[in-house]
Amino acid sequence: MNITIILAAGEGTRMKSKKSKVLHTIANRTLLDYVYDASVEAGSDKTIMIVGKNKDDVKNKFKDSVIYKEQKIGENFPYGTGYAVSIACSEINDDDNVLVLSGDCPLIKADTLKSFLIKHNKLKAKASVLTAFIDDTTGYGHIIKDENGKLIKIVEDKDANDYEKKVKEINSGIYVFNGKALKYALTKIDNNNSQNELYLTDVIKVLAYENEFVYTYKIDDIQEILGVNSKLQLFEADRIIRYRINSSYMKNGVIMENPYNTFIEKSVKIGIDTFIGSGVKILGNTIIGENVSITGDSFIVDSKIEDNVIIKSSYIENSTVKKDVTIGPFSHLRPNSVLDEKVHIGNFVEVKNSSLGENTKAGHLTYIGDCTVGKNVNMGCGSILVNYDGKNKNTSKIGDGSFIGSNSNIVSPVEIANDTFIAAGTTVVSDIKNEGSLIIGRSKVAEKENWVYKKKLRIKK
Ligand code: UD1
Ligand code: CA
Repeated sequence: MNITIILAAGEGTRMKSKKSKVLHTIANRTLLDYVYDASVEAGSDKTIMIVGKNKDDVKNKFKDSVIYKEQKIGENFPYGTGYAVSIACSEINDDDNVLVLSGDCPLIKADTLKSFLIKHNKLKAKASVLTAFIDDTTGYGHIIKDENGKLIKIVEDKDANDYEKKVKEINSGIYVFNGKALKYALTKIDNNNSQNELYLTDVIKVLAYENEFVYTYKIDDIQEILGVNSKLQLFEADRIIRYRINSSYMKNGVIMENPYNTFIEKSVKIGIDTFIGSGVKILGNTIIGENVSITGDSFIVDSKIEDNVIIKSSYIENSTVKKDVTIGPFSHLRPNSVLDEKVHIGNFVEVKNSSLGENTKAGHLTYIGDCTVGKNVNMGCGSILVNYDGKNKNTSKIGDGSFIGSNSNIVSPVEIANDTFIAAGTTVVSDIKNEGSLIIGRSKVAEKENWVYKKKLRIKK
């Protein structure tokens, strides 16, 4: 059986955070999510997570999909990657392949793990270590080999002498062990090192010393083994993940202004020649057509956007936007809104649970809530659907071709006939039944001549 142990109990002190390191997120998902998914995709039959103070949060997240082993953390308890793995021994059978992953190495690819497992089995190694050559070895374990190229030990950077420090081949922290060999070697390690920890790397030393075959599997893409120990590395990992996802969109014909600063969830579908600007976020089950332009800090979730739509700096949730619509800057489509073809909504327009018919326009400062707006309607600047009476949300209908003057209020529920012309500043409180009427409701304006001069606010010239 292939089993995976994911180490996730560490204190993560270098992260300088109150939150568990492995629960920090890159591209909206926790580090642990990436590691877990890679292990499952690589064919792991059972996953054991070593959890510490973060146990409740981790259990909450992964529920029954994994087995949890709690590592007690505190001065009176042993510490270290070797100790962490030893907690899982009761779950390991002698002939298991035990894949060990770190919860803080989220960039490892499933394909790499698959090849690694195949090679380990083919060579019948007792242990295999995934390694890479890197320039800056700070914080990694150095792979120390003898003159014949045989691995003899792994030395942590903190414990390394000058000669060992120069070795550029490092330990990724990813291993496969034969179950029996692992359990045996774990009984032989000690905490005789600069950190007083039980190092998992010493298991390799024990096996190599006893002339068991220990294999090193070198990978070229060092990005895959980037460990996230600090917030700087969190940022680096985030950039890499975003680029990985976004490059697959670009391969499929999407144009991106800056794929490092754009976040799109894998579940999103995007058509060819669509332009995605820097800073855009698109999530969930969103489907975007061809030749769409989405720019500014637009945010779109669970929505359908058809061809040739232009969206500038806007927020769209759970809505449908049909062909040739233009949105923004600074519009907000709240759930269950439908914009028909050629609609335009512009600056500071909010639409909620409403539909706007073909070619309808709301250019500025409008709120449309719980309303069915017909075709070719013009919603003037500052026109508002008063849909909430303090208790209930009420719905209204605005007929095709109507003109809703600036700063007018439509107090729901009302129905407004086609081709109605509502004068600016009018408050509509009842149905408009006849098509083509002018509706005007304003108090008369009074002019008091010379009032300013009599009040001596200004001298008459
Ligand atoms: C470890 C390796 C180092 C390797 C590096 C790769 C050891 C001794 N060193 O160092 O050779 O180059 O990874 O990234 O193994 N953890 C526990 N319980 C513990 C201690 C750690 O669960 O008692 C977990 C941490 O949460 C983390 C993982 O083990 O997910 C690795 O621990 P960390 O302290 O980050 O090890 P490194 O110092 O990075
Ligand atoms: Ca680490």
